[in-house]
Amino acid sequence: MENYTEHLFDVIVIGAGGAGLRAAIEASANGVSVALITKSMLGKAHTVMAEGGAAAALANKDHRDSWEIHFRDTMKGGKYLGDWRMAQIHAQQAPDRIRELEQWGAVFDRTPRGLTSQRNFGGHTYPRLAHIGDATGLELIRTLQQKGIHTGMEVFMEFTVRKLFKTDGRISGCLAYNRSDGTLHLFKGKAIILATGGATRCWEVCSGSWEYTGEGYALAYWAGAELGDMEFVQFHPTGMIWPPSVKGILVTEGVRGEGGMLRNSEGNRFMFNYVPEMYRDEFADTEEEALAWVDEVISGKLATKRRPPELLTRDVVAKAINSERDAGRSSEHGGAYLDISWRDPEEVKKKLPGMYHQFMELAAVDITQQPMEVGPTAHYVMGGIKVNSYTQESTIKGLFAAGEAATGLHGANRLGGNSLSDLIVFGKIAGEQASIYAEQFDDFVDIEKEEINDAIAETLAPLERRDGENPAKVVEDLRKMMQHKVGIIRTKHLLEEALIDLDELEERAAKTSAQGGRIYNPGWHQALEIGAMIDVSRMCALAALRREESRGGHTRDDFPTPDHKYWGKINSVIVKGKDGSMSIDYTTYPSIPEELKKLLDADDLHEEE
Ligand code: FUM
Repeated sequence: MENYTEHLFDVIVIGAGGAGLRAAIEASANGVSVALITKSMLGKAHTVMAEGGAAAALANKDHRDSWEIHFRDTMKGGKYLGDWRMAQIHAQQAPDRIRELEQWGAVFDRTPRGLTSQRNFGGHTYPRLAHIGDATGLELIRTLQQKGIHTGMEVFMEFTVRKLFKTDGRISGCLAYNRSDGTLHLFKGKAIILATGGATRCWEVCSGSWEYTGEGYALAYWAGAELGDMEFVQFHPTGMIWPPSVKGILVTEGVRGEGGMLRNSEGNRFMFNYVPEMYRDEFADTEEEALAWVDEVISGKLATKRRPPELLTRDVVAKAINSERDAGRSSEHGGAYLDISWRDPEEVKKKLPGMYHQFMELAAVDITQQPMEVGPTAHYVMGGIKVNSYTQESTIKGLFAAGEAATGLHGANRLGGNSLSDLIVFGKIAGEQASIYAEQFDDFVDIEKEEINDAIAETLAPLERRDGENPAKVVEDLRKMMQHKVGIIRTKHLLEEALIDLDELEERAAKTSAQGGRIYNPGWHQALEIGAMIDVSRMCALAALRREESRGGHTRDDFPTPDHKYWGKINSVIVKGKDGSMSIDYTTYPSIPEELKKLLDADDLHEEE
């Protein structure tokens, strides 16, 4: 029998990015005891990869903005597959959450009148992204961390959660191990919040770092919760592509927000050729008009022209770059050229200091003088744990989810900047609701000893297996396979192959072994992560195979258009079947009320079809 340390907390928050920190702050403020468990070090989270800003209709740069237009942009950007209730809550509450961050010490950039500055981003009608240069996520994390450590929460750094436990159908705790010394820990809790972010490490080219292996989705799924819309994965159009060692690192959309132009190998601004019908009225179709819009924006006037097509939604821009490459018009290393060098160098350095240094140091490119080379990088999962729109509770009692771990707000495609505001709006709600839920119980409930022992045995198994395959090789093969077969462009044939490959990878994963002991053993950590990566990849491939249309972050070469018959109505649901196999079903959100429907573009809804 292995020893473990037992901890008791009313609310356990797993994940310390923006959503986890915001949830933990709220729960602590409500007077319950809170554990914040993070796989990494506090302050290191994928949240920092939302560089360009947090979307909120503060209307500081353009008084025409309002929550109603933010709501409309979010629903349209998500190709009408999002949960309108979450989109409404998000658009209405985001401005208050930004103001609150300022009160807590976040140092946002300012307009000349001293208001929080806002910048343009893809799919947002008006300049809406409150920002701190191009390091907004970093400042958000810094602020929340600073606030959080004074609220009384207990932080467990470098702990990985292996299993969630239920007792009589409701959540009762989790088993974790300490990554640095290998010790085992049982956390008993009345409520758990999963704020574990996404899973983009399942793809070979991605903007996420090593932590992003999808444990949150897998833990929820293994415990029996429903997950939704897992076929929708966002490939951010602009990741670095050269040199190879930096492939995938994010190039903020803020570059395009500040006037960055995309060109192909022939020097053409190709995005003019890719404006979808649903956006035709809003985007310029000549270079002159696009430039006139930028001139208006730079001089601080209200923009009267239509926006440049580089500011179309990410799904559209990523696919356009892909198509240009397929047509033989890519940049030298297979992407596109992104050029901001036509703007005043001092302005570029002031607005995009991170990008200036990133390219200078990693690629020896001076972006004030030369174009950058960029290409799509897996950045975000729109799908996730299905939650109650008002409480963030999953389909398991006492299990809550927020941020990228949850689904609903973003539909088939997320607008840039809507992630940071999602984290703080729904992180707060999750923390508040989880603490209210936890307060109804006086005592902690027992967890089956046998379940604890099984989870411990599974955790230690890779250390006990001898002469197995190196887990790093299995992970590498998985990521390559997902990039090729479940990437930006999918086909029935490739997805079927992917599902077979995943079965084979699972067999190999079960035989991997980790040399060495429990202390600082990365091989062991990786052997444990593969299980989650394989199940999350399977959710994505299965849902992608079944969705026979193209919409947002899911493109089928064999079904290239959206199926208007099901326009915005069908959401996929992944659940663990009684026999333990993964099954898929479909559901739909309740109908949108007339007063909100009026805010949407009637033509987009294809109701007559
Ligand atoms: O491009 C960016 O700065 C990323 C922002 C986001 O994903 O929200």
